Parts: sequence; C-alpha cells; structure tokens
Amino acid sequence: MNSREHLISWLNDAYSMEKSLEETLERHAKDAEGDPEMHARITQHIEETRAQAETVQGCIESLGGKVSKVKSALAGMMGSVQGMANKPAGDTMVKNALADYSAEHFEIASYRALIDAARTLGEEQIAQKLTAILRQEEDMARFLEERLPGAVQKALVEADRD
Ligand SMILES: [Fe+2]
Repeated sequence: MNSREHLISWLNDAYSMEKSLEETLERHAKDAEGDPEMHARITQHIEETRAQAETVQGCIESLGGKVSKVKSALAGMMGSVQGMANKPAGDTMVKNALADYSAEHFEIASYRALIDAARTLGEEQIAQKLTAILRQEEDMARFLEERLPGAVQKALVEADRD
C-alpha cells in the first residue's frame, strides 16, 4: 500500500465510523425523547453525521478511491462502545452520554490524524473539509461534556425516588 492508498483506507474507516454512529445516534435520540434539549442536539448531530459521511465519501472519490461497504475494525470498536447502552434502565441517559462522549472523542482523534495525513500528502482541500468536520465533533463533545454531570445527578435522584 502506498501513502495515498493508506489515506484512502483511513478515510474509509472514518466513513464506516460515521455510518455506524448514525445508527447509534438514532437510538439515542429516541431514548432522549423526554429531554427536549438533548433530543434536539442529538437530532442536529444526526444530520451533521450524515453530511460528514457524504463529505468523507467525496474525499475518497476525489483521491480515486471507492467507499468500502465492509465494516472496518474502527467501526467494530465503535460497535462495542455502543453495545454498552442497549438495555433500557434508569441510567440509560448516563450510559448513552458516556458512549456518545467517547465516540466523539474517538472521532476527534481520527479526524486529527486524517487532517495530518492529508496535509502531509499535499491534499489541502481534503484537509480543510476534514477540519470542518472536526469542529462539529468538538462542538458535540463539548455539549456532551457539559450535560454529563446533570445526567448523573438526575439518574441518582431518580434511583432513590423509585
Ligand atoms: Fe461524525
């Protein structure tokens, strides 16, 4: 594999990651129906995530590559993060927030690496598109970070009320 093929392959990992996150966020939006602010923010990020997948696909194609439909090891790893939050319980919102917070940070790490790789290969336009995605992931991570303590407090208070 040459360096360009590596970049295409890493972009494909990011594509799988976005596709798999879209499904997780849809489940988490449903879980957050009782929390309008959280529900709205997740719904917004689902739209962003769909657009991100399209942007990444465009980057892959502009490099002469093809989107791979095979789920990558990265997507598999994201799957195990999602797997934590499947059973509905009083702490579902905490588990979902943890899973989403981790996922956003995994995405931040991935896009930072991809931006670096694109710049190294002189693909400045791709680096700029990925930077716009990175900003969206950072915004979502910040939102989740702010909401996590409240979700923890609420779950604990509600646990003693039942
Ligand atoms: Fe994303």
